[in-house]
Amino acid sequence: MSKGKFYITTPIYYPSDKLHIGHAYCTVATDTMARYKRFQGYDVMFLTGVDEHGQKIEEKAKAAGVTPQQFVDNIVKGDRGILDLWKLMNISYDRFIRTTDDYHVEAIQKIFRKMYDNGDIYKGAYKGMYCTPCESFWTESQLVDGKCPDCGREVHYAEEEAYFFRLSKYAEPVRKLLTETDFLEPKSRVNEMVNNFIDPGLEDLCVSRTSFNWGVPVDFDPGHVVYVWVDALFNYMTALGYMNSAHDELSKFWPADVHFVGKEIVRFHSIIWPAMLMSVGEPLPKKVFGHGWLVIDGKKMGKSFGNVVDPYVLAERYGVDALRYFLLREFPFGSDGNFSNELLISRINSDLANDIGNLVSRSAAMVEKYFGGVLPAERAKNDAEDAELVSMLRALRGEYEAHMEQYAFQSALMDVFKVISRANKYIDETAPWILAKDEANMPRLAEVLYNLIETVRICSSLLVPFMPESAEKFRRQICAGEKDFTWDAAAEYGKFAPEAKITKGENVFPRLDLKKELAELEAVSKPAEKAEAKSKTADEPVGLISIDDFRKVDLRVAKVVACESVPKADKLLCLKLEVAGEERTVVSGIAKWYKPDDLIGKKVALVYNLQPAKLRGVESCGMILAASVGDAARVIFFDDDVPTGSKIS
Ligand code: ME8
Repeated sequence: MSKGKFYITTPIYYPSDKLHIGHAYCTVATDTMARYKRFQGYDVMFLTGVDEHGQKIEEKAKAAGVTPQQFVDNIVKGDRGILDLWKLMNISYDRFIRTTDDYHVEAIQKIFRKMYDNGDIYKGAYKGMYCTPCESFWTESQLVDGKCPDCGREVHYAEEEAYFFRLSKYAEPVRKLLTETDFLEPKSRVNEMVNNFIDPGLEDLCVSRTSFNWGVPVDFDPGHVVYVWVDALFNYMTALGYMNSAHDELSKFWPADVHFVGKEIVRFHSIIWPAMLMSVGEPLPKKVFGHGWLVIDGKKMGKSFGNVVDPYVLAERYGVDALRYFLLREFPFGSDGNFSNELLISRINSDLANDIGNLVSRSAAMVEKYFGGVLPAERAKNDAEDAELVSMLRALRGEYEAHMEQYAFQSALMDVFKVISRANKYIDETAPWILAKDEANMPRLAEVLYNLIETVRICSSLLVPFMPESAEKFRRQICAGEKDFTWDAAAEYGKFAPEAKITKGENVFPRLDLKKELAELEAVSKPAEKAEAKSKTADEPVGLISIDDFRKVDLRVAKVVACESVPKADKLLCLKLEVAGEERTVVSGIAKWYKPDDLIGKKVALVYNLQPAKLRGVESCGMILAASVGDAARVIFFDDDVPTGSKIS
């Protein structure tokens, strides 16, 4: 039975250029929210689409020698166009609107007339500064250093006969809406709107244009086309059937539960949109959430800055789910996030390959190895060892839900990965490979592995909205049924019984070689972007590294389980290390100061993600850390109670 309805929207995108991952960011977030609500049992309407009118499109089409409709059709439906991109990114939208759709055009004409008839639209003359790319008139006081306050580009003086919307009339109700309700989030955006736009005095808004044709014609005054933002904002309702008969879901889904929008269009959504809805007498959406931008070197990622990152390149290389995960895990949704390829690859390696990837493959492999894939019913609990992991599993769905309800995707993912890390530590604490040595320990071993499989089940079911395909692969690896991957089952620790024999399956997220990936990504990025990037870094200070650079180094605690000298190399020792159940060989030039017996059983600091290198014919996978004291080396040791695999930061 449905828990109710949930209507969520993305902005409708301008098909003036191919989309980049900044655009994909909001769509992935919306998709995740839509999937989460469906997972909970809501009847969801997820709307996205394209905003096809306006001077910018008309000019681009002219430059390309095609009609505006041909121009937008190509960007929407063409090869690697918007529809292809959403397919690639696994975007589960329920409806896709194009503002050139007949039903929408017809509805916009009726809406414009309705506002004209009720006295909220009147004819006047516009004189002011105009930004062509943003299609916005600005007053002198709104300009920043004489430039467009939204995009920072040049504006020019323009004058035209135009219709105006009485935005000023709605200043006080909109102020109340923003300051006395939770309509706009995050809260920081409320002050921005009130201080920058409402306090200085809302001016009436110019809502028609005569200087170009590519728009919805004002049917009662030929020569005027409706301002593109009036046309665009009402998409959220026309797509449900408002003022048209193409659809019939207005009463079911309106008002929207939430509009996700980028921060530069919060003004349109939190001031102009509610004012126009008040004018036509329709209920207001419940919430507008203004998310941050993906930036590169502090600049918004966008075509005009020449710094766009192609989602196709990344998704085809690393998988859609890795990209989806990264976008929502790396940056808090309400704030800007500095994108870099290093961050992406490091995040894939640390969270997906190491944390969850390892947990799933090690757990499945151990069930297969020790019990032939079937856990026996006889299991022995041990509260001292199990209690923390089990209570975290029991609390997880509640914590995750609280964060998801606030659109705090990053925090919800951190909730899940906190449990995954705890389970990896639990493997070290319980040491199943030691339990397996004694037949008498089998019931205990069975309980340990059951807890691990339960962790995989509960955690990966909560990852379904974020990484649908990978979560499905994890489900199959532990032989869980669809009934085990439901919202209810995610809160039920301990009832799960696998449906078949568990076998170690494919590695869903193989580890990436950071250096190699960075070099290859660099090689595929466009020459112009490279040239620009080079000029930007030329005068950066050398010697200091950023926190992001430091984060690239994956340092872990490892235990020396064996050590011997390397034949014909009197400076080298060959160490066998154990890192959270994984064995590593590391060659280290410390033979002058340490004998094997000094090291065996000790816990050391390992550079875990160092590229392997051959030293005297032995492949060394990592490096252990030591201090230089004069010309001697002193290895860094950890206390015995620090588990192997613990990250050092
Ligand atoms: O604004 N990081 O369309 P649009 C994060 N048609 N988000 C970004 C981004 C970045 N680097 N670059 C763009 C429009 N976006 C209007 C919307 S809705 C009635 C009309 C986001 O294609 C941007 O913030 O320019 C916006 O929310 C969305 O992409 C569409 O931008």
